[in-house]
Amino acid sequence: MEQLKEKIRSEGIVLSDKVLKVDAFLNHQIDPQLMQQIGREFARRYQGQGITKIVTIEASGIAPAVMAGLELGVPVIFARKHQSLTLTDHLLTASVYSFTKQVESTIAISTNHLSPSDRVLIIDDFLANGKAAKGLITIIEQAGASIVGLGIVIEKSFQAGRQELEALGLRVESLARVQALQDGQVHFVD
Ligand code: G4P
Ligand code: NA
Ligand code: NA
Repeated sequence: MEQLKEKIRSEGIVLSDKVLKVDAFLNHQIDPQLMQQIGREFARRYQGQGITKIVTIEASGIAPAVMAGLELGVPVIFARKHQSLTLTDHLLTASVYSFTKQVESTIAISTNHLSPSDRVLIIDDFLANGKAAKGLITIIEQAGASIVGLGIVIEKSFQAGRQELEALGLRVESLARVQALQDGQVHFVD
């Protein structure tokens, strides 16, 4: 998606050879117009697949997921990372290890919003090692729902996430694929 790549080139900051900061439009400040285009692109790639729900994870997955949900006309569920005052019963959970933070955490979704008849599109802001995505997959499988595929805003193709997900037979659609972060520059696949 050229508009996204241009935004990454102009406003992304290469923090190291592994980490890209995009707080200007995705992870802190959010560009609603860009999010709308992102939602449209996910909807275009997954239209006709009978998707009934979108599942993402708080916090940064929510903006692109909601825009995709708006375009596809389906509800959006975000997995919670912290205990909630009101979300107390019937939780499906998974354990997720974060390489960046080196901590194990639990994510949760209520059973109320996923059923075996659901066909789910998973959306997230970043795909690195795929641990968050795999946690979401575990939860969706516990609900007995089907996974149609994943929609990723920024994929770091030099990390193992895509391979891990494709090894599970899943379709992965990433709107920007980063080949390398080198000398302060972002190099895209292709
Ligand atoms: P993984 O799920 O793919 O294995 O990734 P990892 O554990 O390494 O990622 C943990 C957090 O760091 C996630 O956000 C993920 O989106 C983010 N992340 C990973 N690599 C990058 C990167 O290069 N740039 C940026 N900006 N983020 C990255 P999170 O902690 O869940 O945060 P949030 O959703 O609340 O923003
Ligand atoms: Na994130
Ligand atoms: Na995320």
